[in-house]
Amino acid sequence: MLISAQQMLNKAKKDHYAVPHININNLEWVKTALLTAQEQNSPIILGVSKGAATYMSSFKTVAVMVRAIDESLNITVPVALHLDHGTYDSAKACIEAGFTSVMFDGSSLPFEENLTKTKELVALCKERNLSLEGEVGSIGGVEDSVVGHGEFADPNECEKMAALGIDCLAAGIGNIHGKYPSNWTGLNFDVLAAVQQKTNNIPLVLHGGTGIPDAMVKKAISLGVAKVNVNTECQLVFAAAVRKYIEDKKDLEGKGFDPRKLLAPGTEAIHDLIIKKMTLYGSVGQAE
Ligand code: 13P
Repeated sequence: MLISAQQMLNKAKKDHYAVPHININNLEWVKTALLTAQEQNSPIILGVSKGAATYMSSFKTVAVMVRAIDESLNITVPVALHLDHGTYDSAKACIEAGFTSVMFDGSSLPFEENLTKTKELVALCKERNLSLEGEVGSIGGVEDSVVGHGEFADPNECEKMAALGIDCLAAGIGNIHGKYPSNWTGLNFDVLAAVQQKTNNIPLVLHGGTGIPDAMVKKAISLGVAKVNVNTECQLVFAAAVRKYIEDKKDLEGKGFDPRKLLAPGTEAIHDLIIKKMTLYGSVGQAE
């Protein structure tokens, strides 16, 4: 059953692990993420960007498809369907479409406007028992063609944002979407600790989960991160596995061209990667 992310994130925060947020792109991604979560008895958050939803035709299509797959596969672990980096309008559209969680990313707006719009969405989400993620300090890199430069969040702004009643907070701590450049200086744990201290223990979110060294991820979780977002790394392992299948000319053997065969190595690679992430984040066996 799809549920709000609130309870799963509060439990993760209390018990010092993190719930994986896996961005989905198509049916293969949804099925693999859900089956892996069930197999590992882990909660999971399926993240959907506006771009991915447009690719799949609409937010409504995504909501109907995810619900149907979740039911058909008899998934019993907690699953949240979450808008990733939403605008105010996308957040409202997802609330209507049947998502159980939304992120409003107002980090590119003047801070007061980010606060006002987040506050409106908090009220809307509470009315419908949905969870809301807010953001302070843009995450670096490119997401849906929006370029962020990786600011550090201001802990005082985080305090004001958390006080609005959001369920979790994405705060920039030097994290970047996509591959990390070779001159990346790492996560700033002083900023993370200051944010945690000012935000009254709400679960914190680490975006840009691809390529952060394991030890840094673990330290971030120990400092209050309860959700880690991963997108690019799933795409990379998927592409590499499908590339190998084609380079090995498997598509030319028998019915190897059948998309169900062609894409299978890719989904297997995502499955293995998600298990690695769940193990690293400590979410294995944490489904209730
Ligand atoms: P990566 O693509 O770097 O894994 O980041 C994903 C993310 O943060 C989605 O919000």
